[in-house]
Amino acid sequence: MAVQISPSILSADFARLAEAAAAIPNADWLHVDVMDNHFVPNLTIGLPVVESLLKATSTPLDCHLMIEDPDRWAPAYAEAGAGSVTIHVEAAKAPIRTLRQIRGAGARAGLALNPATPVEPYEDLLGEIDMLLVMTVDPGFGGQKFLDVVLPKIRRARTLIDGHGGQVWLQVDGGVSAQTIERCAEAGADVFVAGNAVYGADDPARAVDGLRALAEK
Ligand code: DX5
Ligand code: ZN
Repeated sequence: MAVQISPSILSADFARLAEAAAAIPNADWLHVDVMDNHFVPNLTIGLPVVESLLKATSTPLDCHLMIEDPDRWAPAYAEAGAGSVTIHVEAAKAPIRTLRQIRGAGARAGLALNPATPVEPYEDLLGEIDMLLVMTVDPGFGGQKFLDVVLPKIRRARTLIDGHGGQVWLQVDGGVSAQTIERCAEAGADVFVAGNAVYGADDPARAVDGLRALAEK
């Protein structure tokens, strides 16, 4: 699978989200971090902002729901037009039903694992998802330090996905930068979220190209 870059608008100026999207026409996705101050200790944006963003950009939205009740909310993001909707296994009470609802509404379905959550118990769900997100920081904030301790799990996830036919994308999120992206790619990731490494750069589009080149090496 070709490398894909999904810059996180969490590190952009929330008063200028349309400009933040326009600044990176070379990105494959726009990563939208939805936080509810319950699943994670931070509060960001929700469905109304996603609906506005969908009108403001043609870049597909990669919505990462860090919320306590994804079963209730995830289908609405898919119905609104998000290209991809990811829920956390630690939060979902009925993940199979919710993943099927996301797909039924025409979006790609993603399942996210926190750094301390093992991947093996979810092997049987690979047929229900289009993307597995292995978090490389504990979720909640941009600009955190990449957790090397997660690299073996990325490798195990790659092995499970390949054993399953290989169509599921493997995303990493948290602390992904020019210093860490090669380690993630070498471990088997193919979709890379980057917040600070893109929106903290003087030229965000150039940062996207730089990350892509490193991941493709
Ligand atoms: C963290 C979010 C990430 C975050 C990544 O909880 O899920 O998407 O925005 O930001 P960086 O790349 O700065 O770690
Ligand atoms: Zn995220």
